[in-house]
Amino acid sequence: MAECFNTRLQRFAIMRRLFIPMILAFCVMYVITTVVYIGTEVNETVPGASSEVVLRPKWPDDSASEKDLANIDTDPMEERMMLRRSRIPPMCGGKFTSTKNASREPIWNLNILYTSSSIYVDDKYKFLYCFVPKTATTTWRKMFMAMHYNISYNDADENFDKLTKDIGLKHLNLYSEQKILQIMQGYLKFMVVRNPFERLLSAWQNKFNKYKSGQFWYCNTYGKSIIEKYRKNFTVGDGSGCDVTFDEFTDYLLERDFKNGWIDEHWKPYYDLCMPCHVPYDTIIHYETLVEDSNYVLDKLGEKRRFPNGSSGVKGKVLEAYSNLNNSFHKREQIYKIYQMDFDMFGYGPIPLA
Ligand SMILES: *[C@@H]1O[C@H](CO)[C@@H](O)[C@H](O)[C@H]1NC(C)=O
Ligand SMILES: *[C@@H]1O[C@H](CO)[C@@H](O)[C@H](O)[C@H]1NC(C)=O
Ligand SMILES: *[C@@H]1O[C@H](CO)[C@@H](O)[C@H](O)[C@H]1NC(C)=O
Ligand SMILES: *[C@@H]1O[C@H](CO)[C@@H](O)[C@H](O)[C@H]1NC(C)=O
Ligand SMILES: *[C@@H]1O[C@H](CO)[C@@H](O)[C@H](O)[C@H]1NC(C)=O
Repeated sequence: MAECFNTRLQRFAIMRRLFIPMILAFCVMYVITTVVYIGTEVNETVPGASSEVVLRPKWPDDSASEKDLANIDTDPMEERMMLRRSRIPPMCGGKFTSTKNASREPIWNLNILYTSSSIYVDDKYKFLYCFVPKTATTTWRKMFMAMHYNISYNDADENFDKLTKDIGLKHLNLYSEQKILQIMQGYLKFMVVRNPFERLLSAWQNKFNKYKSGQFWYCNTYGKSIIEKYRKNFTVGDGSGCDVTFDEFTDYLLERDFKNGWIDEHWKPYYDLCMPCHVPYDTIIHYETLVEDSNYVLDKLGEKRRFPNGSSGVKGKVLEAYSNLNNSFHKREQIYKIYQMDFDMFGYGPIPLA
């Protein structure tokens, strides 16, 4: 009996010797982890992901309840941006689930974020910008150049190599995880979108519908094979590749594999280019209110320059172009389905703009 008692005491002593340092080590690690990620939230667990703790940046308006948002007294631009931001988290997975859940991914996943090729960071002005082709990227490039060289907008050029080499606009995936968390927390993060129907029409007009020097790459790479495949009674030598009709272009689009295939950035969904479930954008600029929204961003960056007036709109009527498609209703519906995340997240309706 005494011996048994003795062994138990010994065992207890051994356990104490082992466990107390382990618990201490655990506590120290925990404190270190918490301190290292100051500015980021140690968030609640993601449903379905067992009890794993997920570190992610704070989303704008994260802690505000719907009632707070409804009562908040802000200026019209702040309110506009808050409304646009608020549409995004419910479309993403994780903590934010909704009846609409078209979501494919949880909110905040660094591995997914690293696959984006369109997100750039500027450490001088402390912003993150997602390049979405056909949404005034050229104007923004010139603006960045003007800001950095302290020259007037009209004297700036749009050379992308210069932007990345001389000015140091950096691709997001050149940063460490820790720095990315800091960027998400402390930098202004913005992107520009427009009605997805309009963007597609604009992409087609720009790449295939006119003989424009510099666009022959698209005619050769895509145009010729689109015509060959989708033109009824095609004959060899038909067209230059630059005369793809909008019907042919949309036929081509509808056969792409948007889930797993490679999609050109000019018609890749905003959702895939800019990853709004993984970047807590503060400001979403709409092309429809481009100048006003962009000046709001420039103000936020402490920049006195103004965004130039007069954006180059789509020539011709968007609704008309879609109505003239063969089998128009069906095609519009199919296109809507492909870009549904974009339509829903950015608040665009299913009707092409008039
Ligand atoms: C939402 O997702 C859950 C789990 O993935 C699924 O069971 C449910 O049917 C989805 N709801 C809708 C409306 O698609
Ligand atoms: C930029 O240029 C203006 C004059 O064009 C000058 O007043 C200003 O101080 C300059 N800013 C910087 C940061 O050099
Ligand atoms: C092309 O096909 C249409 C029917 O789809 C036909 O009416 C037309 O004659 C054909 N054109 C040529 C040049 O073969
Ligand atoms: C743009 O237009 C508005 C109103 O027409 C005008 O007040 C503003 O000065 C213009 N901005 C630039 C940069 O030309
Ligand atoms: C128009 O659409 C119908 C139905 O999808 C198809 O059978 C027909 O070939 C199409 N015509 C042209 C000219 O593309």
